[in-house]
Amino acid sequence: MPKFHDENLIVGVDTFDDAAVYRIDKDKAVILTIDFFTPVVDDPYAFGQIAAANSLSDVYAMGGRPVAAMNIVCFPTCLPVDILKEILKGGADKVAEAGAIVAGGHSVKDDEPKFGLSVMGMVHPGKITSNSGAKPGDMLVITKPLGIGILNTAIKADLTDESVIKKAVEIMSYLNKDACESMIKAGVNGCTDVTGFGFLGHAYEMAEASNVSLEIWSDYLPIIQESLGYAKMGIIPEGAYNNEGYLKGHISFSKSIRQEIRSIMYDPQTSGGLLISVPEENSEKLMEELKIRNKTDFNIIGKVKPKGEYTIEVI
Ligand code: CO
Ligand code: CO
Repeated sequence: MPKFHDENLIVGVDTFDDAAVYRIDKDKAVILTIDFFTPVVDDPYAFGQIAAANSLSDVYAMGGRPVAAMNIVCFPTCLPVDILKEILKGGADKVAEAGAIVAGGHSVKDDEPKFGLSVMGMVHPGKITSNSGAKPGDMLVITKPLGIGILNTAIKADLTDESVIKKAVEIMSYLNKDACESMIKAGVNGCTDVTGFGFLGHAYEMAEASNVSLEIWSDYLPIIQESLGYAKMGIIPEGAYNNEGYLKGHISFSKSIRQEIRSIMYDPQTSGGLLISVPEENSEKLMEELKIRNKTDFNIIGKVKPKGEYTIEVI
């Protein structure tokens, strides 16, 4: 039997959190995370930046500070090595922006390129923002607009222009560092980042880990405007349907909520924002802190309730 428990492993595999956290002593814990994926954009440098921002995000979601990272590379021999150099440069620049260093890595030959990082971060053991910390009465805040998976699908289908691609890259490569700093300043109960399982998937995991239910105010969700149009046209990634399938029976929607909004809530996000559960008395402070530094759309989007019939109620 593999060993999954140790008194110093503060966050392990059982709560589906963003990263593992291991206590070193009473003031220090290390955060360990790994993430990698296939290119989401054509530009190799931008892909490197996005993959790094996505990998670093799990450290920010735990309320930590990235310290060192290792590259994980899969690359085909038939592609020019200059492409790989650009990917790695994008990744390294993003890691530097996070104030961390690339300490090494490993590469293997593969048919399709893949890139990501294993990141080590630091956090005070008493200040971890786990996904299991949400408490009834908390307000929910999201720090990036939703709909990036839909936008990427439209980009792949060649339905967009350069300005839309630029916007998508900007949102995906934007570090959750500013959002993390804001939540540390405000004082919050719990956090996770919104990635492949979509907004509702990650909200569901947070609710389950915290043993609460969530009420989501659909009119308040920040949404990438272009994505709304593509969602109406049915340009929706397969992952959104998979996420909907996994969550069947756990989510209730008010009848008035339009299909395209539901699709956006299930849409898998690449390097999405933080979903934060903040005590009501600190929520105004959090919004003020986000206004000071966060460069993507954010909003208060719902509240935490005692566990009810549905895990998530969207109104
Ligand atoms: Co995560
Ligand atoms: Co992750």
